[in-house]
Amino acid sequence: NALNAAIAGASTLALAAVSFNALAAQSITVGHTTSDNSHYSIGVDAFKEKLEELSGGEFTVEEHPSGALGGERDMIEGLQIGTLDAVVTSTGPLGNFVPETYVLDLPFLFKDYDQARCVLDGEVGQDLLAKIGEHDLVGLAWSENGFRHMTNSQRQIKTPEDAAGLKVRTMENEMHMAAFREMDVHPTPMAFPEVFTALQQGTVDGQENPIPVILTSNLWEVQDYLSLTGHVYSPAIMLASPILWEGLSEEEQGWFIEAAQAGAAATRAEVSRLETEGLAELKEKGMTVVEDIDKSLFQEAVEPSYKGYTDQYGSEMLDRIRNND
Ligand code: PAF
Repeated sequence: NALNAAIAGASTLALAAVSFNALAAQSITVGHTTSDNSHYSIGVDAFKEKLEELSGGEFTVEEHPSGALGGERDMIEGLQIGTLDAVVTSTGPLGNFVPETYVLDLPFLFKDYDQARCVLDGEVGQDLLAKIGEHDLVGLAWSENGFRHMTNSQRQIKTPEDAAGLKVRTMENEMHMAAFREMDVHPTPMAFPEVFTALQQGTVDGQENPIPVILTSNLWEVQDYLSLTGHVYSPAIMLASPILWEGLSEEEQGWFIEAAQAGAAATRAEVSRLETEGLAELKEKGMTVVEDIDKSLFQEAVEPSYKGYTDQYGSEMLDRIRNND
């Protein structure tokens, strides 16, 4: 009858609309430097699922892991010129573009995951996302890399004196480099895609990264010693290209933000899981792990690097984080 025919007609139209969307789906290129089984990759999977769901297939996501599109600094530049759409990156190179974010890279600023997540999800995090927006980049959501620990090929590090004299790869981040100099470590800034080979060939003795990175980037293959220094919390962030952003409607922008938040939640859950399970795996793989670290010794050693920060950038942001507004 007429009603059935109308219903059949409407569902054919709806199906046609869905398949048209699928055919016309805009592919979003997302890059990151960690492997395709890493905490970042799990976050990109969740981002993809959410974005496809919210947009009814209008957008799809193509992930490029393992630094296939370059190091984090290269990819951030790529966002600015529109050669890729989105990136999951640590804050390592971000301060070179948005100096206001340097505050997050100060050693021993956050005492634990709860505090760091709370600050990044609160007003400070929102204000920093807005600042990022003033520098030809779009900050979608804060995600997570994790607390960084030192690894090296030479010896067990229990005190700052044990680390002195080592050549350690750091991120291209002046706060991190300044802190290591205070420990008489020789910081060697380097993009992450070069790190495995540099460690393997002995160009540097060590590096520092969170457990999920040490595990999934196979750094345990070329580093015998891991010290749980937890010397700095390493935030991650999902950034988008302003060129992509300007072409989106307000509703579409909302989908991207919601999807990035879903990605960040999945990444944080994986970081939490690997803090214990990943550490056990690294021990099984043969790393000698120094767990009993008197962090106050490291904290004292790097304390002068705070003066370098406040001299240059003032203390407002630092105070806000410490007061956890
Ligand atoms: O060491 C780094 O450069 C970063 O921690 C990494 C591994 C690229 C993840 O953001």
